[in-house]
This record gives sequence, structure tokens and C-alpha cells, in this order.
Amino acid sequence: MKRLRTQVGIVGAGPAGLLLGHLLHLEGIDSIILEDRTREYVIGRVRAGVLEQGTVDLVIRVGLGERLVRQGMRHGGIYLCFLRRRHRIPFEELTAGRSITVYGQNELVTDLIDARIGTGRPLYFDVRNVRVSRFDSAPRINFVAGGEENEIECDFIAGCDGSHGVCRPSIPGGAVRVYEREYPFAWLGILAEAAPSSEELVYALHERGFGLFSMRTPSITRLYLQVAPHENIEEWPDERIWDELMARLESADGWRPNRGPILQKGVTGMHSLVADPMRCGRLFLAGDAAHIVPPTGAKGLNLAVADICVLARALTAFYRQGRQDLLDAYSEQCLRRVWSVQRFSWWMTSMLHRAPDGNAFDYHRQLAELDYVTTSRAAMTSLAENYTGLPLDLESLPAAKRL
Ligand code: PHB
Repeated sequence: MKRLRTQVGIVGAGPAGLLLGHLLHLEGIDSIILEDRTREYVIGRVRAGVLEQGTVDLVIRVGLGERLVRQGMRHGGIYLCFLRRRHRIPFEELTAGRSITVYGQNELVTDLIDARIGTGRPLYFDVRNVRVSRFDSAPRINFVAGGEENEIECDFIAGCDGSHGVCRPSIPGGAVRVYEREYPFAWLGILAEAAPSSEELVYALHERGFGLFSMRTPSITRLYLQVAPHENIEEWPDERIWDELMARLESADGWRPNRGPILQKGVTGMHSLVADPMRCGRLFLAGDAAHIVPPTGAKGLNLAVADICVLARALTAFYRQGRQDLLDAYSEQCLRRVWSVQRFSWWMTSMLHRAPDGNAFDYHRQLAELDYVTTSRAAMTSLAENYTGLPLDLESLPAAKRL
């Protein structure tokens, strides 16, 4: 067995794990990152695409914003569409200049992997049989790489291995409480080779259910439809998808998404989950390993970034000043934001989806909510503030040295 030693063992090379590795690197703290998928899979899978203002500011501050600034699509608002009319929520005007940026998660992960490789610090893909243990004393991570058994001895483990990862289930029974809710619908998402027909996202509530218009690049449109929870994608030939998208998104002024060849399609369930506390001894959970939000608020990736800011700061204070207090405050500090974002994501979801047990009363109540949100400046400001994101404390994080 090969024995390795590091300060922070990071399980998972998604945005959370890679960003943590980068922030620690800027502080001169060692880490090893492990990922059980291949590099091609991690880079290739299509995930979220909306970055909050604070996420963008952070990525730029830590020296990784070059491609994001060049290729990201900055949006100053979104549209809410109901009764076939689109209503714009002007984020910049309502929040003193805050905006969002559309930049695929896989693009960000590509930038983070390139940066990691540039540092020469270890990053293992395609590892097998990852096990984490001894959280209360001297943490260990065991894994198999290239057929060989390895053991990492570390001071801390960062569980950044997503909702199906090994870290959360490795916590002894009773040490963490899990709060969850399933939603009675799912999203069917497609990526189409078609120029986006609107500069900004369109969230629609229609009698037939929710529809969302988004994008990835100036030539790729991303679209979603509310479907049943275990919908079989085989029952959705391309024509049926387009017909349904057009029915839900087309507005009375003639606006609709452009059509084009469908490059990818898939169904994702909708789920909310919170693990409390986000820590067990020297194991710290971050990102989807600790919480899941339904995608309606576009918050999953941004929430993972917020956890990492708190964790990187706490680990730095430990190594620099021997401080334990920020590590002790980690879970409580993150959970306050997590619940705030759960509330917002739940609210957006319930305002914009038709529940299978909902009736005409519920639909009219939703329309009244949308009417309020698109006409009251106070209500619009609340949406804008939450969508563009609660502030992150960037000042206490390292900044990359300018060349
Ligand atoms: C996306 O572009 O994938 C996207 C946009 C907004 C959401 C969710 C997903 O709320």
C-alpha cells in the first residue's frame, strides 16, 4: 500500500473541491484532490450555468477569471412569463448594479482543472473504492488508483463529492440530521444548436406547466420543461419536446425560442436536502454533499462556492494562527445561507410549477403572485437581491498575485 500525507484531503473534483484546492494553494496549504470519474466525464457533463455576482467576483479575485470574463454572458435581468406575456425584472437597477453571468459549470471546472494542473499539486481522476474514516482523530482516505491501494493521512477531509458521494453516508448514524423534500415533478432539459432568441433568461408558468429558456453560448440554447418525476426520455422525441416548449414559452408578442438540432437531452429530478451539521469532527461537507436545491433559483453551484469561501477561510486561520473558532463556526455560518437559499429556491419552484394535486385555485394564486412580483418594486427587489446572490465576504480571501 502506498502511503501519502497532506494537510487537507479533498474528495471530489467538482467546482467545490477544485475551488477549495485553489484557495488553499494560494495560502500555501497542501491538498490532494480525488475524483472517481474521468477527467473527460467531469468536463463533458452539462450542468448548471448561472453564476451569481459574488461567484464571478471571487473567480476573478483568485486569478481564474480570464476566460469567464471573455466568454461569460453577463445578464442584467431575467424575464418572468405568464398569461403569454413577458415581464422583465431589471436586476442591475434594483440592486445597485448587481448582475448574473451565464457560463457553463463545465467551463468553470475546465478552468479550475487547468489551474490545478498548473500548480503541480496532486489531482487524481478515475479512482476507485474511496473510503473516509477516523474523523475524530487522525483522518484517513483510502482509495485505489491504477489498481494500487493508497492511503492518505491528513489533518482534515473536505467532503466535496456531491449528493451521491461517500462522505456524507460515512458519518456515523445520528451525528448528522438530514432535512429533505421531494418535488412531484422533474425537468427535461435540452441543449440545442440554435442562437438564443433572447439576451436574457425566460422563466414561464403556463397552464401545461413550467418552461425555461436559457443559453450557453451565442450559438447554443438551453431549454427546460417541467415533466413527471420519473418521465421516460424515450417518450419524448424531438418534435414533441419542441411543441411543448413552444406552447409554454411563446409569448403574445411573437417571441419564442429558435429551433435547432438537439445536441443532448435528459431528465433530472427535483429535490431539496440539508445536512445539519455540515461537519463531523475533522470531516467538513461542502456543496451538494451537504445540501441540494431545486434548480429553479439557479443556486446549486453558487451555494457550493459560498461554502468553500467559509471553509477556506477557516482552514487558513487554523494553519496560520492556530485558530479553531472559525472551523467550529463553519457549519452554522454556512447553514444560515443554505436555508435562505432553500427558501428562495422553494419559493421560485412553487411559484412557477404546476403541482399534480394543484387545482385552478392554485393556478390563480400563482398568477397573483407573479403579478405582484412583476409590479411591486419591493417584491421585484426581493427577487433580484436573492437571484443575484447574498454577498460573499471576499476581503478575507486570498487574491492571486498580479503578473
Ligand atoms: C441553465 O442554464 O442550465 C439554468 C438556468 C437557470 C436555472 C437553472 C438552469 O434556474
